[in-house]
Amino acid sequence: MNILILGSGGREHSLAWAVLQNPKCDKLVVAPGNAGIAQIADCATIDINDGGAVVEFAERNNIDFVIIGPEAPLAAGVADRLREAGIPVFGPSKAAAALEASKAFTKEICDACGAPTAAYGHFADPAAAKAYLRGQSLPIVVKADGLAAGKGVIIAETLAEAEAAIDDMFGGGFGDAGAEVVIEEFMHGEEASFFILCDGENVLPIGSAQDHKRVGEGDTGLNTGGMGAYSPAPVLTDEIAERALAEIIRPTMAEMARRGMPYQGVLYAGLMIENGAPRLVEYNVRFGDPECQVLMMRLGAQAFDLMHAAAEGRLAEAQVNWADDHALTVVLAAKGYPATYEKGSLIRGLDTLPENNSNMVFHAGTKEENGGIVAVGGRVLNVTARGETLAQAQQRAYAMVDAIDWPEGFCRRDIGWRAL
Ligand code: AMP
Ligand code: GLY
Repeated sequence: MNILILGSGGREHSLAWAVLQNPKCDKLVVAPGNAGIAQIADCATIDINDGGAVVEFAERNNIDFVIIGPEAPLAAGVADRLREAGIPVFGPSKAAAALEASKAFTKEICDACGAPTAAYGHFADPAAAKAYLRGQSLPIVVKADGLAAGKGVIIAETLAEAEAAIDDMFGGGFGDAGAEVVIEEFMHGEEASFFILCDGENVLPIGSAQDHKRVGEGDTGLNTGGMGAYSPAPVLTDEIAERALAEIIRPTMAEMARRGMPYQGVLYAGLMIENGAPRLVEYNVRFGDPECQVLMMRLGAQAFDLMHAAAEGRLAEAQVNWADDHALTVVLAAKGYPATYEKGSLIRGLDTLPENNSNMVFHAGTKEENGGIVAVGGRVLNVTARGETLAQAQQRAYAMVDAIDWPEGFCRRDIGWRAL
């Protein structure tokens, strides 16, 4: 099969790496890709948020299957355009992508299907939002309704902070994403990410992960897109995963189907677990980044068969061949990230590293320049390893980190600490 993956980050590098291990893959194109992806697949320049351009490219290149990595093309309806053109695609419709693109939509779905989540109010004007605050306890969570690149969530410790967040959101601080605001009860507990493939009707869990969102060791400092992750997440026991499927995931899928917007793709459920009970924090309609990297490291070649089965409505007969293994990824970021950082520094030592089914450096923000690899993003490399234990995966990942010569980069040295 000729396969096209849309996206350019570490997530897409790991998807490409897993897909290439599957003998069903004859040819792989990634658009737009990055320097690491270019070492294993063809890269193409197309506007991946333009459904017409993606369809035209896929038809011209005899693409048999498209995997959509990021949320933006999903929210823009690229999967719909591909399906209309008869091109099989892994990823939800624009209507179903509202599970990530609108927090108010997700809360309303939870209400309709009885899925446990934080109590909330949904507002289209600041006065009503502030009036609601008065009756609530602190801390309180203020969220921009729409897609805000992971930045639209404020956990306010005081009433003044909550009011300032409301003013900021309605004042345009988050662009269109803040035109409506959701205010939520703060949930206590431990977070885990749960990944489930869905084919519109059936669901198949494909693993759990925990990420480290804060830039500093001990989970301190500014929020980032993620400084590392590991899988599985020990807090998501089999019993809690079963409860999450029964109480949250399957009811959501049934409600989506009932509304005529069946969900097909991967569902990334952010869960808060307290006293053995899971509650929904949020849905994303794509793989997490860097969570995908640890999932792909564990699933390997079968990842393609599972995504293909989801796209073709065959999940009822699909199953995951689990190994009793662990994977961990460490993000190497440019010094200064998540604030300002320099671009263009040279990364050395990558060619000395092992590349096999237990060790892989996935590229996130890199470019090839005069035969060398240079950093062009905030999060630049995802140094990923697998082991029989989490400690072994961690040790292997940091051994690779230590062999990379990049003085302009940094990483957290404690990825995995909660589980170890
Ligand atoms: P979200 O973008 O909705 O995942 O929110 C980002 C992060 O904010 C989550 O991963 C949680 O750590 C935190 N968060 C969001 N909503 C809540 C909530 N209701 N209670 C506690 N923490 C929350
Ligand atoms: N690592 C968090 C995300 O992908 O949303």
